[in-house]
Amino acid sequence: MIRFEHVAKHFGNQNVLRDVSYCVPRGLVSFVLGRSGAGKSVLSKLVVGLLYSDSGSVFFDNVLINTLSEQHLHDVRMRCQYIFQHATLFDSLTVLDNVALPIRKHRGLNVRASRLLAEEQLAHLHVDDIAQQMPETLGPGQRKRVAIARAMAMQPDCLLLDEPTTGLDPVAARRVDALIREVSIREGITCMVVSHDLVSVRSIADNVAFLHEGSIAFQGKVEEFFASTTPCVRRFCGGDHTHGNR
Ligand SMILES: Nc1ncnc2c1ncn2[C@@H]1O[C@H](COP(=O)(O)OP(=O)(O)OP(=O)(O)O)[C@@H](O)[C@H]1O
Ligand SMILES: [Mg+2]
Repeated sequence: MIRFEHVAKHFGNQNVLRDVSYCVPRGLVSFVLGRSGAGKSVLSKLVVGLLYSDSGSVFFDNVLINTLSEQHLHDVRMRCQYIFQHATLFDSLTVLDNVALPIRKHRGLNVRASRLLAEEQLAHLHVDDIAQQMPETLGPGQRKRVAIARAMAMQPDCLLLDEPTTGLDPVAARRVDALIREVSIREGITCMVVSHDLVSVRSIADNVAFLHEGSIAFQGKVEEFFASTTPCVRRFCGGDHTHGNR
């Protein structure tokens, strides 16, 4: 569904991505791991044209992103919803209207119809109990789940999630994990998750890629990742004492 072919990206004299070739298969939960500053967020932003590569190609569903017009890029951004690390909600709107507003804007519905759909979406993703709250009253895990509900209201094929569990307490983090797994299994949504959270990886990942020194040092199934002998992967997992089963 998402494909990187020999992608390079630099900022000034820093070669963040040197030669990345990587595929995110349709309908699965694929994690991209790597140390802080490895370029994971940069990689994910290339998918929806928030950044452009210097060389190489990035495809979303076989469409080359590098040369798309703004209109076509808009279509890709609708189909592939990007959820930023600091899930941004409109502070002056209730949770319900945070979800209803983009429905109204992008799906051309009136206020009543968009609110009804937003209510359905919130119930579907188990956040309807907080529909009337203002964002400032929510915990960080709740904000994240509302951001996922809002993205799902756009009826995407794919979610790109940047560090969805970073900064959350373990209970909130696992609830976010469960929601990601649920949208993947129930709706067949392709999820590309950028993370450092090995507990999440163990509990919800199908595939794992490890970004190291500007290229993908490992790519495979989650079991293969934890069994990998690739030195940089071993070092990264070194402090991992999570041995829970899925
Ligand atoms: N717009 C930008 N301009 C200049 N440098 C940038 C820009 N975006 C990212 N970088 C640099 O690229 C490198 C990789 O950044 P990136 O945010 O992708 O890392 P990351 O792997 O997501 O790290 P973290 O785990 O801390 O989120 C960093 O050194 C960062 O400073
Ligand atoms: Mg990042």
